[in-house]
Amino acid sequence: MTSVLPFSRTLNPSPATPERLAEVLASPGFGRYFTDHMVRIDWNERDGWHDARLTPYEPFQLDPAAMVLHYGQAIFEGLKAYRQADGTVASFRPEANAARFRASARRMAMPELPDELFLGAITELIDVDRRWVPEHAEESLYLRPYLISTEVGLGVRPANEYAFLLIASPAGAYFAGGINPVTVWLSTEFTRAAPGGTGAAKFAGNYAASLLAQAQAAEKGCDQVVWLDAVEHRWVEEMGGMNLCFVRGSGADATVVTPELTGTLLPGITRDSLLRLAADLGYRTEEARISVQDWESGVAAGEITEVFACGTAAVITPVGAAKHEGGEFVIGEGKTGPVTQRLRDALISIQRGSAPDQHGWQHNF
Ligand code: PLP
Ligand code: COI
Repeated sequence: MTSVLPFSRTLNPSPATPERLAEVLASPGFGRYFTDHMVRIDWNERDGWHDARLTPYEPFQLDPAAMVLHYGQAIFEGLKAYRQADGTVASFRPEANAARFRASARRMAMPELPDELFLGAITELIDVDRRWVPEHAEESLYLRPYLISTEVGLGVRPANEYAFLLIASPAGAYFAGGINPVTVWLSTEFTRAAPGGTGAAKFAGNYAASLLAQAQAAEKGCDQVVWLDAVEHRWVEEMGGMNLCFVRGSGADATVVTPELTGTLLPGITRDSLLRLAADLGYRTEEARISVQDWESGVAAGEITEVFACGTAAVITPVGAAKHEGGEFVIGEGKTGPVTQRLRDALISIQRGSAPDQHGWQHNF
């Protein structure tokens, strides 16, 4: 397998005008606009990874019998490129996304993209679409690498042909309310992932399977669904597109607790980074099983003082209240807590290049 491939380049003959770009960047939202270019790399059994190319962003053809359309071999990643204080562009732990992309591929019986190609694709795209990286401190360029099976055929088996694609989208806050606390729905009717299933992979089907529960959460007046374990419907796992953290105690005595990785939840890179940053800031950290009952009684007793969601798209978003079939409860007066705020500031400062990057997380492009 070739791991270092030259990228060919075809530049977009009609890129966004400066006026159009300014209009988009004035209010990017999330995932609504895409940059002028994309990257594609193909794979087949005979040639391995080949034909790496940067092209204008444009629709592409898929045969109606392409296997992804029938049996859903599709995985993706999500990471961001941030404008640095000195004007350069860097992304946060892209090597970790490359590794998780390979892990997702293994779980879905797909070929693993070498990390050099994953990073090389990002380098190519940022090189030509750098002007799309927003300047504003709360905004970034969201990068969406994905891999789909393209082989034509209806036999149920791993495909022999795949396409890797990378697209990018300027991004503001994921939630319409910005960093205001969200309300979550604890779902006991639906489950996201079962032991032995695909929960730890960034597999498109996990997200398709979450939509009905997410709609139910919205009907209940909530912003997001919180998934519980599939067996007992008792243990807190994660949210639709982010991990969860709990703060026990307060001040210098606070402990940051997050559900342990059981194989049914996504090993978030933000989650992992916050465990390390929390320790740097002097908090204790714990990966443990947390039940809904622990959560509700811990809040009632004043032991759980803050809860927040964390992920690339959501950054750190406080959870102000939780609802379930039996009622609802408010966490920490429904406001952003001090530990949440401190962790958020610490993370964003590193991502923006305004604080020292002691862990070597930033990757310049
Ligand atoms: N959990 C799910 C289901 C996700 O989709 C994401 C987002 O990528 C996360 C957690 C958080 O992961 P990360 O921090 O790597 O973005
Ligand atoms: C991300 O944070 O990158 C995600 O993938 C979450 C969601 C947009 C699917």
